[in-house]
Amino acid sequence: LTAASAMLMLSSSRSIRATPQHPWLPPPYSVPMTIPPVLAPARRTSDSDFYEIEIAETSQEILPGIQTKVLTYAGCFPGPTIQAEQGRKTVVAQINKMYTDAAVHLHGANVPASSDGYPMDVIKPNKTRVYNYPNAQPAGTLWYHDHAHHLEAEQVYRGLAGAYLLSDSVEQQIPLPRGEFDVPLLIRDAKFDHNGQLVWVFDDFLDRPTMLVNGRPQPYFTVKPSLYRLRLFNVSNIEPFRFRLDNGALFLQIGSDGGLLPSPALLQEIELFPSERADVLVDFRSTAPGTSVALENIATSPAAAQKRQVMQFRVAGVDSARRLDLDAVRGWQDGRVPQEYAPAEGWPVAAPPLPPATQQRRFVLHFDVKQEKFLINGREFDANRVDATVKLGSTEIWEIVNADGALGIAHAMHLHLVQFRVLDRNGKPEPAHDAYPKDTVRLHPGDTVHISVTFNSFVGRYPFHCHFIDHASHSMMGQFEVVP
Ligand code: C2O
Ligand code: CU
Repeated sequence: LTAASAMLMLSSSRSIRATPQHPWLPPPYSVPMTIPPVLAPARRTSDSDFYEIEIAETSQEILPGIQTKVLTYAGCFPGPTIQAEQGRKTVVAQINKMYTDAAVHLHGANVPASSDGYPMDVIKPNKTRVYNYPNAQPAGTLWYHDHAHHLEAEQVYRGLAGAYLLSDSVEQQIPLPRGEFDVPLLIRDAKFDHNGQLVWVFDDFLDRPTMLVNGRPQPYFTVKPSLYRLRLFNVSNIEPFRFRLDNGALFLQIGSDGGLLPSPALLQEIELFPSERADVLVDFRSTAPGTSVALENIATSPAAAQKRQVMQFRVAGVDSARRLDLDAVRGWQDGRVPQEYAPAEGWPVAAPPLPPATQQRRFVLHFDVKQEKFLINGREFDANRVDATVKLGSTEIWEIVNADGALGIAHAMHLHLVQFRVLDRNGKPEPAHDAYPKDTVRLHPGDTVHISVTFNSFVGRYPFHCHFIDHASHSMMGQFEVVP
């Protein structure tokens, strides 16, 4: 089978031609971006923040002047941002006002199994469930999303995803942009019909042509000539992205999925597969007021060409409150990491030691053409089967194989509960900024990676799965059980 024929087969009922833009879709960069509101706690105690969220179908303005039916947390598309602090607990009562089951997973978090949002552990319609998040892990850019088995792909696509930003004292001592200069960008694709309603077709990797950032189509965002911290999230179901800035400016990547990097890296391009995050600084201090800088997606996935223009930054007039830091600007231009973010100089984060592994395992991800099923080691998810029993306190090496090289299908393996280290990819060491701390590892068609995972917090059953969420929603999922 060639990649092209597999693609044709997978898209049997669909047209392979790109859908033309509807006449009422706004031109790129004509709609202002919005930022999801930060959710206010219903109450606070000395050690916990309590939230209440209704999960419900509501209507939102995504395309100018049109109300689109979406699924929302607390009425927001995407969901409101939850801010948390290491050492303080977050308690969220999720009230399911949908007609379908819900389950809320906090992606990237170290949480007890009872609060993990396990796919079978659902909130029935009109029921409430309280999730307890200990926030016993370093600062990180996490997110929460639906995980009700077989429904999660559609429910995430329709809007059930939001940012969860965890902070700690180490992060707070670093001179990072804060407040309005710390901006989450939840990036995804979607398809709208002629009435401006979302079109849901399972596994439609060829025809979700509209890029949304924080729920707005290819928006523009007015920035000051300042340093910005951007939290890039790929919250698309199945679309890999590769981002660059069209003026050639560099990203200083300071964090990955589960927290700050041991060594920040200056990068021209950032590749994010579904559910991956990159915490980056972008320097608009030396950008002339009035300039526009576009964030582009230069991925080579089958339909990426339609999704090149993501969003635009418009640099507004000089902000007199912020003086130009010439050293920092020079540091960016000569390709050196500015000293306050350089390891051994100003950077307080170090890589933890790598404990020796006591167990090795191998997981092969592949699409079974005959069964038309996405499988791990030839099997689909079975809640009654444990695929890996791991000892609390142990470290394991998992070899993860994407066996769909010939079909040209990419995958992304995600493990609940842990942050792991990617050791190597196709025999080559993984670059540091892509290695740790990770909860999802990209698998290009044909890739083999090794990851080192330490299980040292909770016992219980947790899923691992492809985070091309349409694949997982079918079957490409397993579970590990941590035992004492
Ligand atoms: Cu973000 Cu089980 O996933
Ligand atoms: Cu997959």
